[in-house]
Amino acid sequence: MTRVFSGIKPSGDLHLGNYLGAIRHFVVDQHVHDSLFCIVDLHALTVPQDPARLREHTVDLAATYLAAGLDPSVCTLFVQSHVPAHAELSWLMECTVGFGELRRMTQFKDKADAADFTSAGFFTYPALMAADILLYRTDRVPVGDDQRQHLELTRDVATRFNGRYGDTFVVPEAAVAGVAARVMDLQHPTVKMSKSAVSPQGTVLLTDPPEVIARKFKRAVTDTGTEVRFDPATKPGVSNLLSILAAITGKDPRELADGYTQYGPLKADTADAVATALAPFQARHAELTADPAQVGAVLEAGAARARELAAGTLARAKAAVGLLAPEGS
Ligand code: TYM
Repeated sequence: MTRVFSGIKPSGDLHLGNYLGAIRHFVVDQHVHDSLFCIVDLHALTVPQDPARLREHTVDLAATYLAAGLDPSVCTLFVQSHVPAHAELSWLMECTVGFGELRRMTQFKDKADAADFTSAGFFTYPALMAADILLYRTDRVPVGDDQRQHLELTRDVATRFNGRYGDTFVVPEAAVAGVAARVMDLQHPTVKMSKSAVSPQGTVLLTDPPEVIARKFKRAVTDTGTEVRFDPATKPGVSNLLSILAAITGKDPRELADGYTQYGPLKADTADAVATALAPFQARHAELTADPAQVGAVLEAGAARARELAAGTLARAKAAVGLLAPEGS
């Protein structure tokens, strides 16, 4: 059976981009592939975190996975730091990836220039991401468009390692959807929607109530002119709305555009579609938030399975590079 792995950082409130670009695909994949979905808490540490908030976000992300429809009886849900093999394999990956390759990562280039402090972990994090994926002999990695470059690097690192030390890792494929793989900020439609958004009004949170969703879409920045046309290059604001509506309705964004002559009704319909799609999620999320023990039990079972799967690949990789196995192992 094909193996699927993906992860999300517990570094802030999840938004519509995370849902449309990633989580909704996880929900489909879990029924078709042997799937593992991780809360990648070690990745959150690449920027300073408030410890209590990090713990809260970790539990909340688990509740979000469950509320969105991930079913622990068919997929494995776990926290990255509960499986020490991630950090251990990450070192082997850091010693396989090139400094120049990491320096070329656009996420690093974009953020490092703007930040006052850039941790070494922020620079090397694609090596940890490669370790996450390769540990589980993953075939397919469902992600949004912004992770494409990291997936290419993971493939290069796996191929290099296999070439140097013998066949150890499966070389994975990125699975990036055709629609809404890059949801843009509603206030700044040339910038992707993000957990660290400078504009809260431009970011639709998965927990936003319907009236807040309606207001954010109503105030969404649209483009000059009044024509409704799907053209991300010249009409990024309108095209973003059409992509969101298309992702939720399963229709084609160009065909949807033909049904509108003004921006107002498109904004209202998109807000309605988003609020309706999120309603069952929000009800379930509220229930799970009131029952942290249920979430804890899911994560415990998930980590046990992940540890078992990861142990074999880690042992093989360590042996391949020439690390001496301890006596009696
Ligand atoms: P993260 O936590 O930033 O984002 C989680 C997932 O959401 C997608 N995403 C988006 N999709 C569409 N539009 C957007 N505006 C948008 N913003 C985020 C991301 O592409 C991602 O799929 N490095 C990763 C986490 C990670 C990972 C992994 C992923 C760590 N190890 C192994 C896959 C496999 C990250 O920072 O994602």
